[in-house]
Amino acid sequence: MSLLRQPLLLLSRSAQVKRLVSTMPISSGVVRSYVPGESTQTAVDATARLVADGLGVTLDFLGEDTVALEQAEATVAAYADLLGELASRGLSRHAEVSVKLTAIGLALPHDVAPGGGFKTALEHARTICRAARNAGTTVTVDMEDHTTTDATLAILRELRKDFPETGAVLQSYLHRTEADCRALAYEGSRVRLCKGAYNEPEHVAFQSRDEVDRAYVRCLKVLLAGQGYPMIATHDPRLVAIASSLASRYGRAQGTYEFQMLYGIRPDEQRRLASSGESVRVYLPYGADWYGYLMRRLAERPANLTFFAKSLISKK
Ligand code: FDA
Repeated sequence: MSLLRQPLLLLSRSAQVKRLVSTMPISSGVVRSYVPGESTQTAVDATARLVADGLGVTLDFLGEDTVALEQAEATVAAYADLLGELASRGLSRHAEVSVKLTAIGLALPHDVAPGGGFKTALEHARTICRAARNAGTTVTVDMEDHTTTDATLAILRELRKDFPETGAVLQSYLHRTEADCRALAYEGSRVRLCKGAYNEPEHVAFQSRDEVDRAYVRCLKVLLAGQGYPMIATHDPRLVAIASSLASRYGRAQGTYEFQMLYGIRPDEQRRLASSGESVRVYLPYGADWYGYLMRRLAERPANLTFFAKSLISKK
């Protein structure tokens, strides 16, 4: 992990920093490089461009840590609207959605959400899975910080009873993840493996880049040797190369797994992999609530900070 990553993620939780950064318009270079826009229309237009280039897409309506039931309901409505639009534009064969459970109510207390956060998030997730199935596509449940891992996997298990096509996400930085990979490497199980983007304590997560990368390779082996459908989410050139050679070592044909990268990050590599016959999916976030997402991307890539500071000063 970079030296700047943890302080930056901690700083991002300050209300003052959030107020300052959130005044940047979405059109400012640094926000735009990671988030194509705020509206369903801009997101679907960006999706159509990626699909025309031979890429798959998973769309994320930005939002997390929702504290009001109405906000969680509005997020569910936004997904329903998005899925309808994807279907009517003929894009749903190539585009699915990614959902954060805290955006649809996981953290809501009993006095705000009758039945509590778990039940609320599960019901909302079911609604989105149903809308996705009606549109001819799927949902992947994003993974958030470690305090939500058990609840997220429990909701995933419930969802898969009715919607076995629902994707999971596991983070190689957590000590528990190799075991979670084993549990989820069964037939039909779509599992996205990423390094993990949150600021996690030592007792649950590897802290050094080297340990996280080595854990990523161990998890990759479990997933590629298993019966499921691995979704290899990384921009790391070394891990992409290792994944390709492991895939052939385990006799995996192209199309029995996929690569995933974030919108705006290494776009040439996304196209290179796709033109070599690999399935590649781009994670495309959109919406007004881009703050948390942007700060995680900046924390991963301190080289972007100068660019970011200039955008903030010029507010363009
Ligand atoms: P690493 O951070 O080591 O970067 C490797 C290389 O990629 C860098 O050297 C640079 O070239 C490029 N790069 C990486 N980040 C960049 C940036 N911000 N800007 C420019 N270049 C950059 N996390 C999570 O906790 N829960 C989740 O549900 C998801 N979901 C998810 C979906 C998809 C499709 C992806 C690709 C990633 C996630 N993540 C995630 C984020 C993930 O955990 C991780 O934080 C980032 O992918 C960065 O890690 P890399 O594996 O890319 O390696």
